[in-house]
Amino acid sequence: MSSTPLLSVRDLRVQYGQVEALHGVTLEVFPGEVVALIGSNGAGKSTTLRAISGMIRSESGSVAFDGQDITNLRSDQIVRRGLAHIPEGRQIFGDQSVFDNLLLGGVSRNRGQSRDQAEHEIRRFPVLFERRRQKAGTLSGGEQQMLAISRGLMSGPKMLLMDEPSMGLAPLLVRQVAQTILDLHDQGVTILLVEQMASMALAVADRAYVIQNGVVRLQGSSKSVAENPEVVRLYLGGAASATA
Ligand SMILES: Nc1ncnc2c1ncn2[C@@H]1O[C@H](COP(=O)(O)OP(=O)(O)OP(=O)(O)O)[C@@H](O)[C@H]1O
Ligand SMILES: [Mg+2]
Repeated sequence: MSSTPLLSVRDLRVQYGQVEALHGVTLEVFPGEVVALIGSNGAGKSTTLRAISGMIRSESGSVAFDGQDITNLRSDQIVRRGLAHIPEGRQIFGDQSVFDNLLLGGVSRNRGQSRDQAEHEIRRFPVLFERRRQKAGTLSGGEQQMLAISRGLMSGPKMLLMDEPSMGLAPLLVRQVAQTILDLHDQGVTILLVEQMASMALAVADRAYVIQNGVVRLQGSSKSVAENPEVVRLYLGGAASATA
């Protein structure tokens, strides 16, 4: 592991109106790592990713990426620096073809380049290649998730922020998404993975952070986090869930 983080988030605070959702989140991700951010509904996972990628403003704190301060830059500027965000809920264009969804998701470079990149990306998942002319809205949930991942890769990012890629997927498809994350890891893509499905996230990640009520409560290797009794009880379906 390199000693310089690729992504460094310091004491990030975010408010929605009068309500503070993040109360000072600090985390870092080193080059080549897959890091999981786990926590319950409303804990602040998506808010953390949105503030990192410039989708929302932070009140205070800082975000550094690849050695440069990117705090509150515009999201398109952040994508150009090599940090891509695959948001919660896939957000594909249902009436457009699978292939055109890739083109629409590409950061604006010249059209020929985008097309070449899309031709490359569409082959990442054979199931998408077979369906490249089909309307994206007719894809299954898992296929749509693969499309969302491919679109996130269109900009050739150094790092991906992934928000709940397992959401709404049956176990077999969750395994496919998990395998995709491992493949990207092998290819050297650095990933910050937000998941409610803690078991999946901890299985693919090198390290993990646990966020509760807008604060990081726990961090460590995935193994140590997975063995933490509190994590087992709250997030891994421990026996005590009936008493929670
Ligand atoms: N646009 C918004 N306006 C007001 N409050 C918001 C907004 N988005 C999120 N919040 C609030 O901020 C808190 C954190 O929300 P966030 O979406 O980050 O949670 P999360 O950890 O991603 O949850 P989930 O697992 O359900 O996706 C919640 O209390 C939520 O209600
Ligand atoms: Mg969320």
